[in-house]
Amino acid sequence: MIGIIGAMEVEVQDLIDLMPKHETETISGIIYHKGTVAGVDCVVARCGVGKVAAAVCAQTMILRYHPSALLNIGVAGGTGAWVKIGDIVISSALVQHDMDTSALGDEKGYLSGPDIIRIPASPTLVNLAAAAAKSVFEPQKIHTGIIATGDQFICNSKQLGRIADEFGASACEMEGGSIAQVCYLNSVDFIVIRAISDSADEQAATDFTTFARRSAQELTQLLTNLLPKL
Ligand code: ADE
Repeated sequence: MIGIIGAMEVEVQDLIDLMPKHETETISGIIYHKGTVAGVDCVVARCGVGKVAAAVCAQTMILRYHPSALLNIGVAGGTGAWVKIGDIVISSALVQHDMDTSALGDEKGYLSGPDIIRIPASPTLVNLAAAAAKSVFEPQKIHTGIIATGDQFICNSKQLGRIADEFGASACEMEGGSIAQVCYLNSVDFIVIRAISDSADEQAATDFTTFARRSAQELTQLLTNLLPKL
């Protein structure tokens, strides 16, 4: 069983539409769709935007459905100059850019529970995702890098520069780091795969509205290639 989490309808609906007749279950207001995608047993949920929503969903999925791996999919803002709208970023590791106890002497992004800053994604899943991406995206559009998560839609150059400089991030979004933390605590393999909808700059809100749907559709294609390999 593979668990798949997206925050918004645009990020998971195409995938849910690909599931033949399937069961649903609602827990804590989140609908879990249990069935098959590309012939593979999956549970798919739209968690809602942000770290708390994502953590509730990931922990519930793990306890209720015991997935062998969790995939977080969706769109993201590009934070590396080399990452363009329409590209794809596969997570090498996740950081939470809004976690900051540096006033107490900790490094920025330090997570005291698991005692870590960067949570590594499963290297096997990273390799499989990169291979699956090749049949959908041109090679120069596929990146593997750090994805930074926080409870903010990043839409100015100052914030974007801080996230890129402090964490070496290639992309920013609002759920992956939280799902990574839940998976880390439960020893479940995970990966975050994000299609770039904007550049997290002053244009981000407009670009997001224009490109989110198309980016999400391309990601669904990648997933249908990836799932049978898991
Ligand atoms: N998801 C897509 N674009 C984003 C941005 N600029 N900031 C945070 N999350 C995003």
